[in-house]
Amino acid sequence: MLTLEVVASFLTPVAVNRILHHLETGGEDAIIRPWFWILTFFTGLVATTLTSGRYFFVVLRLLAQVQSTLTQLIFEHALRIRLKADGGISADKKENSKDKGGTVTLTETGATAGDESARASASSEATLGEGPSSSAERGTETSSKGRSGKTTTAAGRKDSSMIGKINNLISTDINSLEAGKNFILVVWYTPLQIAVSIVFLYAVLGWSALVGVGTMIIMLFIPGFISKYSHNLQVKKMAKSDARVGVISEVMGSAIRMVKLFGWERRISERIDQKRQEELHALRRFRVLSLVSTIVNNLIPLMTMVVTFTTYALAMKGELTASRVFSSMTVFQTLQGHFRGCTLCIPWCIQAKVGLDRITDFLHKTELLDSYAESTQEQNTLSVSPNPDIIGIREASFAWDSEQAANVTPGSSWRSFKLCVENEVVFKRGHINLIIGPTGCGKTSLLMALLGEMHYLPMGPDSYVNLPREGGVAYHAQESWVLNETIRNNILFGSPLEQERYDKVLWQCALERDLSLFDAGDQTEVGERGVTLSGGQKARITLARAIYSKAEILLLDDVLAALDVHTAQSIAEECLQGDLVQGRTVILVVSPIVPLVLSASK
Ligand SMILES: Nc1ncnc2c1ncn2[C@@H]1O[C@H](COP(=O)(O)OP(=O)(O)O)[C@@H](O)[C@H]1O
Ligand SMILES: [Mg+2]
Repeated sequence: MLTLEVVASFLTPVAVNRILHHLETGGEDAIIRPWFWILTFFTGLVATTLTSGRYFFVVLRLLAQVQSTLTQLIFEHALRIRLKADGGISADKKENSKDKGGTVTLTETGATAGDESARASASSEATLGEGPSSSAERGTETSSKGRSGKTTTAAGRKDSSMIGKINNLISTDINSLEAGKNFILVVWYTPLQIAVSIVFLYAVLGWSALVGVGTMIIMLFIPGFISKYSHNLQVKKMAKSDARVGVISEVMGSAIRMVKLFGWERRISERIDQKRQEELHALRRFRVLSLVSTIVNNLIPLMTMVVTFTTYALAMKGELTASRVFSSMTVFQTLQGHFRGCTLCIPWCIQAKVGLDRITDFLHKTELLDSYAESTQEQNTLSVSPNPDIIGIREASFAWDSEQAANVTPGSSWRSFKLCVENEVVFKRGHINLIIGPTGCGKTSLLMALLGEMHYLPMGPDSYVNLPREGGVAYHAQESWVLNETIRNNILFGSPLEQERYDKVLWQCALERDLSLFDAGDQTEVGERGVTLSGGQKARITLARAIYSKAEILLLDDVLAALDVHTAQSIAEECLQGDLVQGRTVILVVSPIVPLVLSASK
């Protein structure tokens, strides 16, 4: 297609040349009649337009396909990533390893689960014994946890780095591919066009054409320098604008009362004025430079032609006929356009390549969940449970980082936590199972291990980890979250509405009173754009979502932590002992304080 376009674009200058030649010589020695050249002229223009239209159609369609495929690929990949505390991309690892010296090194913790100990009357309770060094760990790692136990530093960092990265990939890097869509122009079309142009010019003007092309190449460095300089100026100008806007928003945002009280108006306005003057100065320089750049750009073809034609006329003693001048003028114009296009296109292509590399890195270098990672020897034994209905773990340890898991030497890693189950932990089907332990001892990790989010390391021949998923699994994360949706949709979460069940859920999760406070009831929008909910309300909506779901197994991580004693008690009585939970398997994580508080308040 592009080759065709190159050929088509040369039909016009050739036709111009021949027609003018025909006029000059009055048609002597002409084999082909002028109407043919007029037709060629017309065909050339039409063909160029058609081919370039077709080219853009194909390229843009391809671009849209590639972008949507990559977007989907990134989202799909994001679901398979192990969400551990660090970003998981090599760059982050490097950063982290640099940090090693500075951070407190956490030694391996053996949070050992006692085997099915201490059963409460209706519920079996698997108590997590505290490992030898976990108190030290708690002191450093989880000291930032508030009573609510909601925000661990690890989770915060994990979220921001990974979500930020994925956001960036989707928005910036995928868009940067658009800049590179014309890379085929740089590698094929432009070189071909330039080569044909030079051949044409050489045929028409002899070696003086080469002088012209040389002049053009040399002169093209000038706009290059100018644009580099103007880029710097632009950066400076932006910095000045930022400074001015910064001052204004600082004053208007928070300090305006101070300014008024202390009578600082004059001084502040002078300060802003000074910043504005600096900005204007930078802006003026930038504009002048743009002007120079435009002038130079327009001068280049003129200079080139002057040089070429002078060389042709004076040095080569050739005769400058109209056919030579006009046909070569068009070609010089195209040639210059191509050189310019090239200088613009190459940085864009590089930018696109960088974006593509980042996406490739993300797809290849993030650590995946065990079930998606290429299986290593030890993982071949994954989950050979004696009974597929069992929920539990036997003789296995779990790590957040597969690399760390491979070579855990105490004190060597910046953050290593290992969950060890020395005997067997089996959760009772159809009952409420409690996991109790101090913060940081690995309760959440135990749930994660069951869910397959942690790296599994079997410790014996009979090791297994099993969580049957046929009946569905509902997971209430420690950090409760709501979608940007109505409360009702947040609870239904895609399931069909069954009014009776829904009302029961609202009542059992003690949400009725909260809903009566909103004008729109359960149609109130929550989330980022909607009403802001309290931590307890969010936690109960998240709990309601899990209870409403028909999943057979409920993993509830610290549901009671964000609630006040009365609400917690009502949930423990109405919801956890209610009919909706009856018969389902609940694995409930609670901090040791909760049962105490609940029983004390009775
Ligand atoms: N997503 C994660 N990535 C890496 N390490 C984690 C992650 N979540 C928890 N940990 C580690 O696991 C340890 C136990 O945390 P956690 O299981 O959340 O305890 P608990 O739920 O009992 O408070 C912490 O010390 C922390 O370092
Ligand atoms: Mg936890």
